[in-house]
Amino acid sequence: MLFIILLFAAAAKAVPLTKRQAPSGVPSYVTEYAPIVYLYSADPYRPSDIGAQLSNTQPQVNTTLISDAPSPLTLDNLNSLNALGGPDVYLTSIVDITTNPSYLYGVGPTDNETEGVVSTAVIVNDHGSGLVDVFYMYFYAFNYGGDYFSFIVGDHVGDWEHNMVRFQDGTPTAVWYSQHSNGEAFTYETVQKSGVRPIVFSANGSHANYAISGTHDHTIPDVNLPEGPIEDYTDEGPIWDPTLSAYYYTYDADTSTFAAYDDSTPVNWLYFTGHWGDDEYPENDPRQSDIFGIDGTQKYTGGPTGPEDKQLNRTDVCPDNGDACILRVVLGP
Ligand SMILES: *[C@@H]1O[C@H](CO)[C@@H](O)[C@H](O)[C@H]1NC(C)=O
Ligand SMILES: *[C@@H]1O[C@H](CO)[C@@H](O)[C@H](O)[C@H]1NC(C)=O
Ligand SMILES: *[C@@H]1O[C@H](CO)[C@@H](O)[C@H](O)[C@H]1NC(C)=O
Ligand SMILES: *[C@@H]1O[C@H](CO)[C@@H](O)[C@H](O)[C@H]1NC(C)=O
Repeated sequence: MLFIILLFAAAAKAVPLTKRQAPSGVPSYVTEYAPIVYLYSADPYRPSDIGAQLSNTQPQVNTTLISDAPSPLTLDNLNSLNALGGPDVYLTSIVDITTNPSYLYGVGPTDNETEGVVSTAVIVNDHGSGLVDVFYMYFYAFNYGGDYFSFIVGDHVGDWEHNMVRFQDGTPTAVWYSQHSNGEAFTYETVQKSGVRPIVFSANGSHANYAISGTHDHTIPDVNLPEGPIEDYTDEGPIWDPTLSAYYYTYDADTSTFAAYDDSTPVNWLYFTGHWGDDEYPENDPRQSDIFGIDGTQKYTGGPTGPEDKQLNRTDVCPDNGDACILRVVLGP
């Protein structure tokens, strides 16, 4: 008997503790129609562990360490930084990022899974009357901004990107693809699929999400062209199934509250209003550069805010940013 118990204990231990598949209670359509992501073949910056970002960084405000921050910072106490600077807090790499610490590169998928890390948060917002928005939030430890006329512009530590699938009575109707400060919406019918799952192409370095493979020029905000001066590159690189290792939550818009589907999923980190990477390095920092002093062309920009800042309670499929929400019925770049 003892032998059998030990055997079970050993078997349980062999499973990586970070591996997370959908707990019971998650509606079946959430995983059934979840996006399948093609990473860019030559992108060195893969999906990364959400929790590990906290052990590889320390919280700063105005480039000064927050001395009374909890130590260690965890996904259970990260929200305590809201009282210590909130939106002014930057989780700042402990090791100078220009020395290429390995955590920036994340984990490449094996058999579609980023093994040993949890790099996705799935957040379900039930609007009532059968309307449900499911957000698939992807985390990468580093964003490589891209090469503009041989200048690198827009690198930053931490990168949150997402898809949102809108459901009516459990049937998918539309898909949102986040890209830089905005993105594109398509009807579910329009997008390419693997079985019934929408296909997503994650761009080299920026991890912007596109509905087709190839080159995407995004020089003009909200107008994607097949080529131009500021391009994102996507291809059919390694397949990543974000649902194989994810945290699953509900979001209640009336109370602005997140809840996990099981007791072992950390929740509090979702309330953190600060940034998931270093603040923009000042001009006098030797790491920083720009194109002929033009504002907005800095090599390094500040780290992004997290899922709570992505308009989780939308009227349209697009976030409400004053632009028209075009629900595309034709695939494009
Ligand atoms: C950061 O520094 C600026 C300029 O010195 C100051 O105005 C601001 O209040 C500081 N912010 C915090 C949160 O300390
Ligand atoms: C990986 O995902 C693709 C696309 O959904 C699927 O066809 C394939 O069977 C998956 N491979 C494994 C090992 O799960
Ligand atoms: C992809 O990103 C890497 C840096 O992360 C860069 O060296 C490479 O040139 C990029 N590829 C393309 C096609 O832009
Ligand atoms: C959430 O979105 C719905 C639209 O689906 C809207 O009616 C409701 O007022 C929003 N709730 C909050 C708290 O903004």
